[in-house]
Amino acid sequence: MANGFVLNMKVIIANWKMNVGVRESVALARGTLLALRGRRTLPEVIICPSFIALSEVHKVVARSSVKLGAQNLFWEDHGAYTGEISGRMLTELGVSHVIIGHSERREYLGETDEMIRNKVAQALENQLDVILCVGETAVERKSGAQRERVRTQLVHVLDGVHLKSHDRLMIAYEPVWAIGTGEIPEVAEILAMNEFIRSILSDVLPNMNANKIRVLYGGSVEGNNAYSFLREQTIDGLLVGGASVKLNQLKEIIDAASEVLDAQQTKV
Ligand code: PGA
Repeated sequence: MANGFVLNMKVIIANWKMNVGVRESVALARGTLLALRGRRTLPEVIICPSFIALSEVHKVVARSSVKLGAQNLFWEDHGAYTGEISGRMLTELGVSHVIIGHSERREYLGETDEMIRNKVAQALENQLDVILCVGETAVERKSGAQRERVRTQLVHVLDGVHLKSHDRLMIAYEPVWAIGTGEIPEVAEILAMNEFIRSILSDVLPNMNANKIRVLYGGSVEGNNAYSFLREQTIDGLLVGGASVKLNQLKEIIDAASEVLDAQQTKV
């Protein structure tokens, strides 16, 4: 219990990408807080504005249950790396989470599994919680290689990584072909992939209880489909891109999460 509200395990991550500047980010953050008001149960909400808006958004959410995430970080702590931002700098701004390995960065910035691995290490060293994105392309899916792709990403990035606790890491399964396209996998496909992801996690992180590591879905999540994912027990939350900069959509997604959490509470 926190402030009379029940905080639960479903997570909603708003990835605002490069869509909004400082002023809009602040307005969206305020709107998000309003959307959370007066609810019996709350999902964990993490908002990820662009670097330039982190400081102002932090002021808005600092006294709330909403957490602040960054969309990226660099793998070194400091030094001559023009244009980069370190984990240490992010923590100064009140950031608690960081998205790493998003497919847009893999595609447009040439991020490799090795870079992503170094970024994960850097985040953990700086006490930042990691939201690690994995997922296959349309071509890989067509050739039936989606599991192999996801397995490779997880093994390359996480094998041997020292994780102190299961809640320092979340995995976001985001099929590349579903991001921003309006196409979504069958829920059954996501469930099967989540189970597969957990089996890989128990191999690569043998000291962790893989069932406790949260595995989320991302890709064309909107207000009208969020519930169909969230009601599944093994989908621990959603990573939302395009819809998360539309306040009415974000509110619907939060509504869906609260509805699921309320129903779970009633059952207990
Ligand atoms: P989308 O993006 O919701 O716009 O498909 C998701 C993401 O890229 O994290």
